Amino acid sequence: MKKYEGIIFDLDGVICHTDHYHYLAWKQLADRLGIYFDEQINNRLRGVSRMESLKIILENSKVIYTDSEKSKFAQEKNQDYRQLLVQMSPADLSAEVKDTLNALRKIGCKLAIGSSSKNAPYILERIGLKNYFDAVADGNQIEYSKPNPQVFLLAAQQLNLAPESCLVVEDASTGIEAAVRGGFDAAGLGDARTCAAAKYHLTEFVELKEAVMGNDN
Ligand code: BG6
Ligand code: MG
Repeated sequence: MKKYEGIIFDLDGVICHTDHYHYLAWKQLADRLGIYFDEQINNRLRGVSRMESLKIILENSKVIYTDSEKSKFAQEKNQDYRQLLVQMSPADLSAEVKDTLNALRKIGCKLAIGSSSKNAPYILERIGLKNYFDAVADGNQIEYSKPNPQVFLLAAQQLNLAPESCLVVEDASTGIEAAVRGGFDAAGLGDARTCAAAKYHLTEFVELKEAVMGNDN
C-alpha cells in the first residue's frame, strides 16, 4: 500500500546536480564586480529564486546598484549558467534516481516537478526527462518562490491532488519550509536531510521507496 498518491520533486539538487554550475556562473559575476562569494554563500541560494539569489550576493557589495543594473546582472549570470548547462546530458541522471522514479510510477504514484528554476524545462530536456513527469511547475509559472508554497501547490493542482496526498522531496531547508507551509509531508535529502520539519530524513534517493511504501524512518 502506498502512502502518497503524488510525489513532487525539487529539481536542482534532487533529480540532478546543477549547484556547481550555479556557483560558477555567480562566481564569474561576483568576481567581475569585485564582490566576495564562496561555496558557503552559494549554499544559501538553494531553492531561492534568481533575483533573491542576486540579493544575497549583493549583501557583500560596497556599491548600491539600480534595479535595471540588477536585472542586467541576473541576465548575465543566466547566460553564463545556460552555457554551462549545455554540457548536461542523460548521463547526468543517475541510475538510482531513474530506477526509483520508475519504481514509484509502477506502484501508481503520479510524479511532478516543483522547482524555483526558470531553466527547469531546459534542464529536464538535457537530462532526457522532457516528457517524463505528469506535471512540471517551475519558476516561469510562479510569483513567489520557496519558502512560499506556491510552486508545490501549483504542482499538486496540476496533478489534480490535494497537498495531504502528496509528498515533497527537497534538498533545501527553504523547500522543506515551503512544503510544510503548503500542507505537504516532506522528505529531506542532502543539506535538508537534518531538517526537523521533514517527515523523512533520507541519506540516499532510493530510500524514498520505503518512505512511500509506509516504513517511516
Ligand atoms: C533553484 C536553485 O532550483 O532555482 C536556486 O536551487 C536557483 O539556486 C533557482 O537560484 C532559480 O534558478 P534559475 O535557473 O531560474 O536562475
Ligand atoms: Mg534544490
